[in-house]
Amino acid sequence: MRVILLGAPGAGKGTQAQFIMEEFGIPQISTGDMLRAAIKEGTELGQKVKAVMDSGSLVSDEIIIELVKERIAKDDCAKGFLFDGFPRTIPQAEALREAGVAIDHVIEIAVDDEAIVERMAGRRVHPGSGRTYHVVYNPSKVEGKDDVTGEDLIQRDDDIEETVRKRLGVYHDQTAPLVSFYKNIEGQTRYSRVEGIGGVDEIKAKVISALKPVT
Ligand code: AP5
Ligand code: ZN
Repeated sequence: MRVILLGAPGAGKGTQAQFIMEEFGIPQISTGDMLRAAIKEGTELGQKVKAVMDSGSLVSDEIIIELVKERIAKDDCAKGFLFDGFPRTIPQAEALREAGVAIDHVIEIAVDDEAIVERMAGRRVHPGSGRTYHVVYNPSKVEGKDDVTGEDLIQRDDDIEETVRKRLGVYHDQTAPLVSFYKNIEGQTRYSRVEGIGGVDEIKAKVISALKPVT
C-alpha cells in the first residue's frame, strides 16, 4: 500500500503516521525528518538545507526528489510506504508519476490556520525517532522526556510563530494545489479528506478507517 499524508504544517501528519505504520506495517517516509537528521549529522545536504528550513521556505524540488528516489528504492519499501510531507509541490508529484510510482490512497488532514499556530507553540519532538508530543493535547508521560527512550524532547527551530505563519503561506501557495491534482489524477488513487480538529485518538480512528479497503 502506498499512501500520501497531505496537510498543512502542524495538521498532525507525523502524529498520525506513527499509527498508520503500526496498523499497516509500512514505513513512514518523512522528508522533513530526513532533512533534520542530515542537519544533525552535519552532512553536506544538512549544511545546504538548514537556512532554508529555518526560514520556513521549501527545499528545492531537485534535492527532495533525489532524496525520495533513493529512499523508496530500499528493501523495506517493497510492500509500500507512507509519505509524510512529500510531495509538496506539483513538480514533486509529477516526478513521482513520471517515475511510475502509483499511489493507492491520499489522506488529507484538514486543520484551520489558527489551530495550527496554537499547536506548534506546544509541540515537543524526540529528535532520534521523530515521535511528537504536545504539552497540552498529547503530553509525554514524564514532562520533557520521550516515552520510549526517556531521552530529552526538544522544540523545532522552525516552530516560532513568525516562521509557522510563513510555512502556512507556503502551504497554501505551493502544496494546496495538490488537492485537486490528486482528486483528478487518472488511475487507482483514492482520496479522503479527514477533519483534523478533535482528539488524537478520534482523528486516528477516522484515518485508519479511511485506509481500510472498501468492502
Ligand atoms: P516537515 O517536517 O514536513 O514539516 P511540516 O509539513 O511543516 O509539518 P509538521 O511536521 O510541522 O507538522 P505535522 O503535520 O507532522 O504535525 P505533527 O503531527 O507534528 O517539513 C519541515 C521543513 O522541511 C519544510 O518547511 C521544508 O523546508 C522542508 N521540507 C520537508 N519536506 C519537503 C518537501 N517535500 N519539499 C520541500 N521542502 C521540504 O503535530 C503538530 C503538533 O500538534 C504536535 O505538537 C502534536 O502533538 C499536536 N497534535 C497532533 N494531532 C493533534 C490533535 N488532533 N489535536 C491537538 N494537537 C494535536
Ligand atoms: Zn511532521
